[in-house]
Amino acid sequence: PKEKGWLVSEMYQFQGRWHTQALLQGILNCQKQFEAKDSDIILVTNPKSGTTWLKALVFALLNRHKFSVSSSGDHPLLVTNPHLLVPFLEGVYYESPDFDFSELPSPRLMNTHISHFSLPESVKSSSCKIVYCCRNPKDMFVSLWHFGKKLAPEETADYPIEKAVEAFCEGKFIGGPFWDHVLEYWNASRENPKKVLFVTYEDLKKQTGVEIKRIAEFLECGFIEEEEVRGIVKLCSFESLSNLDVNKEGKLPNGMETKTFFRKGEIGGWKDTLSESLAEQIDRTMEDKFQGSGLKFSC
Ligand code: A3P
Repeated sequence: PKEKGWLVSEMYQFQGRWHTQALLQGILNCQKQFEAKDSDIILVTNPKSGTTWLKALVFALLNRHKFSVSSSGDHPLLVTNPHLLVPFLEGVYYESPDFDFSELPSPRLMNTHISHFSLPESVKSSSCKIVYCCRNPKDMFVSLWHFGKKLAPEETADYPIEKAVEAFCEGKFIGGPFWDHVLEYWNASRENPKKVLFVTYEDLKKQTGVEIKRIAEFLECGFIEEEEVRGIVKLCSFESLSNLDVNKEGKLPNGMETKTFFRKGEIGGWKDTLSESLAEQIDRTMEDKFQGSGLKFSC
């Protein structure tokens, strides 16, 4: 079924999720064509949950012997936007059908927003690893709200935020329902902790080094020196990445400006955009949906 919705004029529901036509096409192609390898690493997020940051962190971690993360040098992250270093599965399957995944160096590092249920069969059946990053829903919603305004100013200009929050809570939102996406990966990480690692934007922000070491251990990528951890934290920080020319002035092949991926990079920034009652509406939905799961967000 097709519905009109905020941010995109039409959304399509597939396997319980709402997608733009483009991303749905990408997901369908990906489901049919993508063959996962046991050594693959797949980063999974809801949009606006720290995808760009996670891509940078894991890229820097995996390549720390090839590209030094110490202060100076010619690290690829200094001259290339993270989205160009780590391919977006359903985006590539929609926009660049000739892209050859077999040419990616091993271990192949990719990202997706695909729900756990809709992952290509080979991702589930192989021993590839999934790092899932979740963000508290109020900050994620607000980040997407501002992103939508930059991306589609005309369509979003007169759209009332009350209606957008309502749609978000009901799940009829791009990539939504947010709750189901998070819960599926949360449950998968508890059922199979060697396959799925669950991290949060908030933990990444509060203790970036600790989380880098947790990701490194999960990915079994060898001993990591404290100095390397510090180098990765600094190289991938919001301050560092958002001030690079390539991220301030660059464009992705689909025309998207790289600066749209960097706004505030904070925890609790929703307070500037959401009224108390809208925040409560999201909180109530979150409590209801996450009840009994063990998942909690404190901001
Ligand atoms: P805000 O809009 O709240 O600032 P995604 O990468 O999934 O699209 O998410 C974008 C969000 O992550 C934006 O949040 C952006 O500012 C934030 N972000 C991008 N790079 C970051 C970094 N290196 N550290 C922390 N937050 C970052």
